[in-house]
Amino acid sequence: MLFSQQQWLRQKFFVLGSLVLGSLFFLVVREGTLDRLHLICPIKDRLCPADTSGQMPLHTLQLKQALGLKLHRRNRTREQLRTHHLIKQLPRAIIIGVRKGGTRALLEMLSLHPAVVKASQEVHFFDNEKNYARGVDWYLKKMPFSFPHQITVEKSPAYFITEEVPERIFKMNSSIKLLLIVREPTTRTVSDYTQVLEGKEHKNKTYNKFEELVVDTNTCEVNTKYKAVRTSIYSKYLEHWLKFFPIEQFHIVDGDSLITDPLPELKLVERFLNLPSRISQYNLYFNATRGFFCLRFNFMFSKCLADSKGRIHPDVNPSIKEKLRRFFHPFNQKFYQITGRTFNWP
Ligand code: A3P
Repeated sequence: MLFSQQQWLRQKFFVLGSLVLGSLFFLVVREGTLDRLHLICPIKDRLCPADTSGQMPLHTLQLKQALGLKLHRRNRTREQLRTHHLIKQLPRAIIIGVRKGGTRALLEMLSLHPAVVKASQEVHFFDNEKNYARGVDWYLKKMPFSFPHQITVEKSPAYFITEEVPERIFKMNSSIKLLLIVREPTTRTVSDYTQVLEGKEHKNKTYNKFEELVVDTNTCEVNTKYKAVRTSIYSKYLEHWLKFFPIEQFHIVDGDSLITDPLPELKLVERFLNLPSRISQYNLYFNATRGFFCLRFNFMFSKCLADSKGRIHPDVNPSIKEKLRRFFHPFNQKFYQITGRTFNWP
């Protein structure tokens, strides 16, 4: 009897002890690292040069970002925001497109970097007349809280194909960095179609077959009136952007490589943004169930992209695919020539 009571007490102490130790460990990880925080990259008017000194645990700033978000969500006082040195900043870099290129994956993966803070939603400031009329203060308000040394990045893929956007961005910041993520044009066109098809299906609406949309039935030529085709003519849109920004302000991301092997692409982006290299293989792991790379923030937090990213594409008639590939070929050559980046597109 006495023995079983002692055993019961021992078990109780063990459970309580584990709870206390667990909580302490959590607090040390959460608060302790916050206190040790120091600037990794004191950016003033420009992005800091690549620098590998002053290493900071990746999760530290992510917790800081989370803290900023919490303060924002709970609508804390200005005083509290000031205490934490949190401010809102206009983007120093924008992912301008291209739709279905992997813009969400790029933004999420980039925000693994401790010096990058992302605007979670697509803001659609420069391409939407109503939003643009609200002015830059409205745009700023849409940005997340960040520390002065961090950079804010937003993505709105419609920017790439909307005529008014380059001039508007130029007027806001002529030295902004522009990220453009592209995929093999025919695959991108199918991806674009798949997204619209899914939307129709959700509304119990019927939709044309891909083959019917991409080929003009009168001429039997590729139908350039179909938006999904037009969007994949990257050189055409880029040429318009180049009327406002020099090519050096663009960085082209290979969206197909970002799917299969994201780290090298992210390293190139870090370098383009003059950020110290912080995103590592640890932060990216392949999830066999999803069939895609997912994000690991620290030993506790990881996430995959939503199911709407990585849809199964419908089967497309191979001869139509071939027709599209032949159509895009000269535009692709032009794109390689302009950007200085060549892809293995057919
Ligand atoms: P699919 O749905 O055609 O596969 P966007 O974010 O610009 O809409 O791009 C969506 C595409 O991102 C997806 O197209 C998917 O292939 C690609 N992608 C790249 N990396 C991904 C990742 N880690 N998880 C899910 N999708 C990813």
